[in-house]
Amino acid sequence: MSAKIIVSDVTKIYPGQGRPVVALDRVSLKVPEGEFVCIVGPSGCGKSTLLRILAGLVPCSSGTAAIAGGDRGKPLHSLVFQEYAIFPWKTVLQNVAFGLQMRGVARPEREATACEWIGRVGLSEFTDAYPRQLSGGMRQRVGIARAFANDPEVLLMDEPLGALDAQTRLILMDELLHLWEADRKTVVYVTHDIEEAILLGDRVVLMTARPGRLKAEFTVPFTRPRGIEVMGDPAFAGLSYQIWEALRDEAIAAMGPRA
Ligand SMILES: Nc1ncnc2c1ncn2[C@@H]1O[C@H](COP(=O)(O)OP(=O)(O)OP(=O)(O)O)[C@@H](O)[C@H]1O
Ligand SMILES: [Mg+2]
Repeated sequence: MSAKIIVSDVTKIYPGQGRPVVALDRVSLKVPEGEFVCIVGPSGCGKSTLLRILAGLVPCSSGTAAIAGGDRGKPLHSLVFQEYAIFPWKTVLQNVAFGLQMRGVARPEREATACEWIGRVGLSEFTDAYPRQLSGGMRQRVGIARAFANDPEVLLMDEPLGALDAQTRLILMDELLHLWEADRKTVVYVTHDIEEAILLGDRVVLMTARPGRLKAEFTVPFTRPRGIEVMGDPAFAGLSYQIWEALRDEAIAAMGPRA
């Protein structure tokens, strides 16, 4: 399968205050078309930086990062953030249709597409509601529906469920699996949560503490379509422990020297 995303030898150095911060150190990653890859790593290791580079929001200091274009007219990527990055002054419908509006899709068509995705994330009753009238989980569903409705070449997701409580996360993980099944887009998904990464991903890539490098990768053996029932499989617990063992030292290193 052809590579949809190619990251080659990317280093990112932020000017920082006083001394420069090396956020990423020669990171290389290839993501084949249709793969759901999860990136796990300790706080501050450069996960968000990598996604921002892929989204073209920040330049790399050296190396290259590229997403291969396919259909013309499709956006290259949609980015879903940890915090609810939806417009408070727009309704659910307007938020979900926003990307399509920016691309000049005519109103009836963009509203039909937006309504379809609003339905898929279970918010049909809230189509005309404003974000302040929604719970955190519902707002995050709006962000996810907007990303999918935009129909990008790849989805870049930065801890999209990070701000939610455990039960809501579990429900949304299951929903995400179902949404993704519809067209199996290429996804780069950042999370702190090992179980979330195994449940959702085809592959889990582990990063070191800053400066972020790729430390190890794990292939997730569970077949698709899958749901949260795989969490009860003994192989799930085994893989989870294996990843934790590799992550533990990095997590400790990221906390800095102990007294
Ligand atoms: N705009 C910026 N200017 C200067 N330094 C930055 C900037 N953005 C990030 N950094 C630094 O780069 C490093 C990596 O940050 P990044 O946000 O990519 O980490 P992360 O892995 O996403 O962390 P977290 O898991 O806490 O979200 C951190 O040390 C951070 O302080
Ligand atoms: Mg981050």
